[in-house]
Amino acid sequence: MFPGLIRGLRVFLYQVERKADLMKALITTASKHGSTAEIGGAIEKVLLEHGIGTDALEPEAVSSLHGYDLVVLGSAVYAGHWMKSMRELVERLAEELAGPPVWLFSSGPIGDPPKPDEDPVDVAEIMALTGARGHAVFAGKIDRSRLGFGERAIVSALKVPEGDFRDWGEIRTWASNIVEGVAAESVTIPLPDGATHRPLA
Ligand SMILES: Cc1cc2nc3c(=O)[nH]c(=O)nc-3n(C[C@H](O)[C@H](O)[C@H](O)COP(=O)(O)O)c2cc1C
Repeated sequence: MFPGLIRGLRVFLYQVERKADLMKALITTASKHGSTAEIGGAIEKVLLEHGIGTDALEPEAVSSLHGYDLVVLGSAVYAGHWMKSMRELVERLAEELAGPPVWLFSSGPIGDPPKPDEDPVDVAEIMALTGARGHAVFAGKIDRSRLGFGERAIVSALKVPEGDFRDWGEIRTWASNIVEGVAAESVTIPLPDGATHRPLA
């Protein structure tokens, strides 16, 4: 009786079971004009493609890291620094950030070759605090029509070229490396109940 319904129910239950078994990633990005958030979106897409569940949140919306198997923190760089909202998140959740594997990325350098080429000022400290597995600097985007008056003045004075310098291939490769890193680690990270994560597909 109702074989279609029963099959549908089985599929549903299977999916619920699989979902409960998924690893979960938090991807949080501090972005003033949206381009860093889009990088976060590209990273999220790669993780989802590898069967990792994701939450993509703005830093202000993150109150706890509970339940996350990995964390990606990304920030746009302004005047050599990560954005305040992300620095505040790191301060607020410093203790919890010592738990799960953490990856950092900065988005900022502009031009070809991208400039500046030194790391943002805050990154060394955040690396040390979180024990981050890695930090990537991705080239950013300047769209003058979206900048405020003061920003436009700075960009003009420094002769910063306009354009979208983000390298999506590089970003996707970096995200894939995260998946590989977590997959390798997941065999040895015990869960609270003593189980281990299922190796990733
Ligand atoms: C006023 C201003 C200052 C900037 N300062 C830096 C900087 O110090 N280092 C850097 O790498 N990029 C700098 N940038 C480039 C931005 O980080 C880049 O445009 C980035 O893609 C912006 O990200 P968002 O769209 O997420 O805000 C600056 C951009 C502006 C407009």
